[in-house]
Amino acid sequence: MCGIVGYIGNNNAYDILIKGLHRLEYRGYDSAGVAIVSPEGQLNVYKSMGKVSNLEAYCKDKNKEGVIGIAHTRWATHGEPSDCNAHPHFSEDGNIALVHNGTIENYKVLKEALLQHGCRFHSDTDTEVLVQLIEYIRLTNNCSLLDAVREALKEVVGAYAIAVIEKNNPDQIIAARKSSPLVVGIGEDEMFLASDATPIVEYTDNVVYVKDEEIAVIRRGEPLKLVNLENQEAEIDVKKLKVSISELEKGGYDHFMLKEIFEQPRTLTDCIRGRVVEDGRRVLINGVSDNKEKFINAHRIIIVACGTSWHAALLGKYLIQDMCRIPVEVEYASEFRYSNPVLTSNDVVIAISQSGETADTLAAIQIAKKMGAFVYGISNVVGSSIPRETHSGTYIHVGPEIGVASTKAFTGQVMVLTMVALAIAELKGTMTQEQIAELGKVITKIPDLVSQTLKLNDKIKHLSLIYTYARNFLYLGRGYSYPVALEGALKLKEISYIHAEGYPAAEMKHGPIALIDAEMPTVIIAPNDHLYEKIVNNVQQVKARHGSVIAIVTEGDTEIRNMADHVLEVPEVPECLTPIITSIPLQLLSYYIAINKGKNVDMPRNLAKSVTVE
Ligand code: G6P
Repeated sequence: MCGIVGYIGNNNAYDILIKGLHRLEYRGYDSAGVAIVSPEGQLNVYKSMGKVSNLEAYCKDKNKEGVIGIAHTRWATHGEPSDCNAHPHFSEDGNIALVHNGTIENYKVLKEALLQHGCRFHSDTDTEVLVQLIEYIRLTNNCSLLDAVREALKEVVGAYAIAVIEKNNPDQIIAARKSSPLVVGIGEDEMFLASDATPIVEYTDNVVYVKDEEIAVIRRGEPLKLVNLENQEAEIDVKKLKVSISELEKGGYDHFMLKEIFEQPRTLTDCIRGRVVEDGRRVLINGVSDNKEKFINAHRIIIVACGTSWHAALLGKYLIQDMCRIPVEVEYASEFRYSNPVLTSNDVVIAISQSGETADTLAAIQIAKKMGAFVYGISNVVGSSIPRETHSGTYIHVGPEIGVASTKAFTGQVMVLTMVALAIAELKGTMTQEQIAELGKVITKIPDLVSQTLKLNDKIKHLSLIYTYARNFLYLGRGYSYPVALEGALKLKEISYIHAEGYPAAEMKHGPIALIDAEMPTVIIAPNDHLYEKIVNNVQQVKARHGSVIAIVTEGDTEIRNMADHVLEVPEVPECLTPIITSIPLQLLSYYIAINKGKNVDMPRNLAKSVTVE
């Protein structure tokens, strides 16, 4: 969480920093700030509670001149959102300013020691401790900013991506990372830094992903230098960015979320491109074929993830068990990491993360690696931490997802899991070539079938008006539709703040049925699969208690149509592919209900897209 941006060059830093903050706003949006060294040598720090637009309004009449600066958009951890807790924080003598993404776990101990030395604090944040510590070391040892940062970071326990500038030396930015992401962009006579590449992409496509415990020394007129905490130089590995600016803009849609929902036919095409080939007869997943033995001999697969990715993981379990006959366990990464897990070198751990930066998932990967398991990553963000930490993996290739509520990343993850399962099944011989080809063929048609499903848009928009003011929702599904129910409920609560619960349909009678009355709508995901007749009973049970039912059914359905209050018909696909189709109307339903309620769907309250803290 939190986004950091930095700039040094010959252009107006403020404009670049503000644009960068807008791009990173998905990471946190409770306050924002900038620090710029003016041509007169002033360190101007401006901060404001709320969104980046509030900061812009606040800065309107301020002196924003300067060609070096750092900026921050915050998702509060230590200290409530407020002007004074907003970053950048600056040192007592006003010489040093710092922005930080992460958590300094031992900040209390450090603060205590600094108080003893006479430091005064002006915020409740862990970050201010770091800037005061850097200043203290700088003054006590009479050393350079770089040395002071190195020494300070040796004292720190926790996660950080930081950028530091000083008034007295307006020709350098010192930046560093541990567990939180940091990218440096190399332009002509200018350099950029940011939490991810999105603020950089319109200026240069040459980037360097800073590694853990590396410090970037970014000096005007000098090439980028990377050193470790012991000041030993590290190699610079310049990568080429493949993101285009249009992918970062709304492209005529009112919100990123709607754009991303409607992009799914294209993103799914990108996801399967080069992987499902020969008209579906072959499924090629390099990460699987390159590690054949690991998958063939796996005694067990454990999938770790958080949030929406965890719902994709649950689908991964159904897919891999069905197709590959390997036992699969699914764990919340946050639970797994502290559960004293039992793992061996015969286990394969699959870590799923859209951002590739989720702190709990990263920690789970490290534990799994330490215990000898083979770790496979499924991520979206190229160059992010999780693909780097895992032994192998597959990108979902759905392009940047900006809306905080995940949509196209979810369907991309499910698609990759489907292809991974098919690739393993082929290696293990648990499916015949004919069975694989049959599914492969349908996979190539999925983008078109998603397009067809998106035609429900107007119907759902209308339907959403009826349910905008419902206070609770229940989502039910069985088999492959159960994780879809969980995901549908999560989408609704994330962006509309309506309480919604997803349940395995048969569990309804063990509790949730008590909630059902005329005020409680139930969304039932009931495609034509082997559990269809079972779920028909659930529809009856809800109707018998005067509950209203919105049912997602397969085209041509008659039985549920006669019972449900509203039906949304989706194209028929084989059971294991239904989640990609049935999740589409649920995304639209949550979107329109939130819009009707006037909520900010792209930046829902209290949430952040990239969760780099525990
Ligand atoms: C946050 C986001 C969710 C996401 C989850 C896991 O909660 O708001 O959309 O599913 O983190 O993120 P990851 O990047 O690991 O998939």
